[in-house]
Amino acid sequence: MLDRYGRVVDYLKIAITDRCNLQCVYCKSADTKYRPDYINDTLSADDIKFLIKAFAENGIKKIKFVGGGGEPTLHPNLPDFIKCARDCGIRDISLTTNGTTLVRIAQKLKDSGLTSVNVSIDSLKQYKYHAVTRNGNLNEVLTGIDSCLRLGMKVKINCVAINDFNDNEIIDFIQISRRIPVDVRFIEFMPYGEAKAIYNRGHYDIKSVIEELPGIRKIENTDKGSIASYYKVKGSKGRIGVITPLACSFCNKCNKINVTADGMMRLCIHSKSEIDLKPYLNKPYLFNENIQKLIWIKPRHNDLIKRQFVKNDLKINK
Ligand code: 5AD
Repeated sequence: MLDRYGRVVDYLKIAITDRCNLQCVYCKSADTKYRPDYINDTLSADDIKFLIKAFAENGIKKIKFVGGGGEPTLHPNLPDFIKCARDCGIRDISLTTNGTTLVRIAQKLKDSGLTSVNVSIDSLKQYKYHAVTRNGNLNEVLTGIDSCLRLGMKVKINCVAINDFNDNEIIDFIQISRRIPVDVRFIEFMPYGEAKAIYNRGHYDIKSVIEELPGIRKIENTDKGSIASYYKVKGSKGRIGVITPLACSFCNKCNKINVTADGMMRLCIHSKSEIDLKPYLNKPYLFNENIQKLIWIKPRHNDLIKRQFVKNDLKINK
């Protein structure tokens, strides 16, 4: 699939559940519909399998199962979805997870065809980890990572850079990539939803912090479609990554589309506009006939931001 800027779209990020067993303070409010027992109007397992097959038929080569505020490993059919992707010829199958269940299900996921996991950890101190997740047990997650590595899966750790919370742990995170073959990626804090209030209390430029560390050197990022800048310190087994979604320096090579757990397609993660895929479910002919036209209009987040600035300026001038 191709868009109007000539970008080849071959990476699907699909959310499969809104449920989560943690309630990270910047992600979702504990007293909202995101309680673990909440059941949303999410797609059925058959609908998700239909989308995997239909997108694979239209050129998707890489798939990532995510939660969109939920935890994908809580979906009982996750192994089936992974198998479905593998049977469709997709070779790069990954998962973004809080890691709490990996110790129990890593083997099953690997056997189904999972090739890599991105595990979210925002602190390496149990009391802080427990506080930010409002529930989690760090040890369980670290053991889960160990299981994945032993099974030969690629592991990346995602750490959201939170001001006055984990800015004093950056070196500890980097030490992980020195010791074990894991990429540690720091994510710039984004002021969305619950995170807005925290962001407004203060944030910092994680990229400059990393780049100013002594002994760190930038390396080329050869991962196709990857949005991270990568670095290494001497003798390290893994890489150090920085993801700066707000800086939007990667729009020109964005190859990604996102589908929410209730079947809405987002062509750019920063755009609020969504395209409802439900009318195309289980109608392969209709899907194939329309998907290229829908992908064609994929925006560039750069342009969206420029437009937003113009709008704000107009408001200020009034
Ligand atoms: N800013 C930055 N990263 C975030 N994530 C969730 N919310 C935010 C935010 N406001 C991260 C999660 C996970 C990844 C999918 O996105 O911690 O690692």
